[in-house]
Amino acid sequence: MKKVFGVFGDPVEHSLSPVMHNAAFSELGMDNVYHAFRIRKDSLKEALIGAGAMGFGGVNITVPLKQEALKIVTADPLAARIGAINTVDFEDKNKIWGYNTDGLGAKHALSDAGVDIDGRKIMVLGAGGAARAISFQFANDGAELIIANRTENKAIELAEDVRSIGDARGTRISNLKELIADSDILINTTTVGMHPYTDNTIVTGDQMHPELVVFDIVYNPLETRLLKEAKSAGATSINGLMMFVYQGAEAFKIWTGVYPPIETMKNAVMEELKG
Ligand code: ATR
Repeated sequence: MKKVFGVFGDPVEHSLSPVMHNAAFSELGMDNVYHAFRIRKDSLKEALIGAGAMGFGGVNITVPLKQEALKIVTADPLAARIGAINTVDFEDKNKIWGYNTDGLGAKHALSDAGVDIDGRKIMVLGAGGAARAISFQFANDGAELIIANRTENKAIELAEDVRSIGDARGTRISNLKELIADSDILINTTTVGMHPYTDNTIVTGDQMHPELVVFDIVYNPLETRLLKEAKSAGATSINGLMMFVYQGAEAFKIWTGVYPPIETMKNAVMEELKG
């Protein structure tokens, strides 16, 4: 019988996950369907239990439900540390399992672009859910992190948490030029620059240097203002497309045991972004 998969979020109608996962199912000849479900935070528990009861193959969790979902499921140790999940698996009939594949998505995106992590100095902008996933992943991979956030406390708390496995310090967003001069990689994990506010950026080209790698996890638009600034400074720029694809691929593997076709997923998302 056809298995149902989905993404739970609110709003979720513009999610690119359905087109990406359905392309992979189709390419692999798997008779499954992936759909977007708008779920209010106060119905999330019922929705997850219901999805399990109805025999869903798996779901992704997106904004603003990732933290709330963690409280409902049995989280794997990495997701518990991060404090948020993006993937739910229903295979175990006694427990609903939650995972976070965002960090692995970011790791594979940088690795695809030929960027090493071990021993590198990384500046992370933001201290929300995405920043937490990325910071734990890269600290684990041997990077030295500076986490800079508009709300300084959140950066300091995240750095403290990350220090249980690696090297990190937290700060507010100031003295960016000096901090970036000392960094190899700059990662924007905030929503600044995302459609429709595409003129916004936290960092400008005059604060960058040519040896810098600038990775923006935003993928709509593909070339954010931050990445345009990176180009103007002669820095290397990496957009958020492959992180999105790889976080989805890792979820797909958790659900099906099969690693999906990356090119197919990437092309499906690109087509949709072109409109
Ligand atoms: P996500 O789960 O996608 O990471 P989030 O948890 O809401 O989303 O976190 C959003 C991050 O973007 C936060 O670090 C937020 O900074 P604050 O902690 O100060 O709120 C950051 N952010 C959002 N809008 C911003 C802006 N205009 N300037 C700077 N940082 C911003």
